[in-house]
Amino acid sequence: MSELKNNIDLTKLPNHIAIIMDGNGRWAKEKGHDRLYGHYHGVESVRNILEGCAELNIPYLTLYAFSTENWDRPKDEVDGLMELLVDTIRKEVITLNKNSIKLHVIGDMHTLPPFARKELEEALLETSHNEKFNLILALSYSSRWELLNAVKNIAVDVKEGKLSTENIDQDTLQKYLATSEFPDPDLLIRTSGEYRISNFLLYQLAYAELYFTSTRWPDFRKENLFEAILDFQRRRRRFGRTDEQITHRPEQLFQS
Ligand code: IPE
Ligand code: IPE
Ligand code: MG
Repeated sequence: MSELKNNIDLTKLPNHIAIIMDGNGRWAKEKGHDRLYGHYHGVESVRNILEGCAELNIPYLTLYAFSTENWDRPKDEVDGLMELLVDTIRKEVITLNKNSIKLHVIGDMHTLPPFARKELEEALLETSHNEKFNLILALSYSSRWELLNAVKNIAVDVKEGKLSTENIDQDTLQKYLATSEFPDPDLLIRTSGEYRISNFLLYQLAYAELYFTSTRWPDFRKENLFEAILDFQRRRRRFGRTDEQITHRPEQLFQS
């Protein structure tokens, strides 16, 4: 079991892992249950993966929990997911604090039902002093929403004279993104055998290593995470440079 973990090179860990937690519905259907049953079981995977990241001292974990497009699902499922979210957050705040995990949310919080927003805001406040780990929940999030928002806010600041067009560079854009506080993900994991990004961190994933597994999210455990990390460690990240440059200056592997 822990052999996988022992093989991980602790000097070459991803600093930020992002996960598209997919496959809850199919997992449940395959077991003869309704889709919500899958979402409930997905929570156990979240706990386990959070634990795995803490064991390895990985400071940033972003979880895609609900996309802008997921609002179009049947009302029962959306309502169930919102209740599950509130319930989970309420129960987990103690654990988050115990392990010094700061909660963050990226996404259009205004679209969440008031009871969910209230619970989240409380949890954000209650974990705001934690410094060791960061759990970033992408909720009512989509990259196109985020980029549109950034463009609008930049336009407003230019109009109000707070920003001049000539001075807009990549650092400026970064500051207007929902992820402005976080480094870009090094590793993206998507479960359930789908090979797409589904409107998730399109800008930030520019140089992330992509890892796809057929494992459904409710079955995904630390050992699967360790496998993904081992796979990540076998990659050669070149960031546009040549293989020779990387061989001679390996520290460039971690430049972003
Ligand atoms: C991911 O599982 C969870 C959310 C999108 C909220 P799905 O609900 O997408 O499960 P599948 O992909 O239909 O199996
Ligand atoms: C992506 O999964 C969103 C989340 C995991 C929250 P979806 O199941 O919504 O993605 P598509 O529709 O299969 O692309
Ligand atoms: Mg899905």
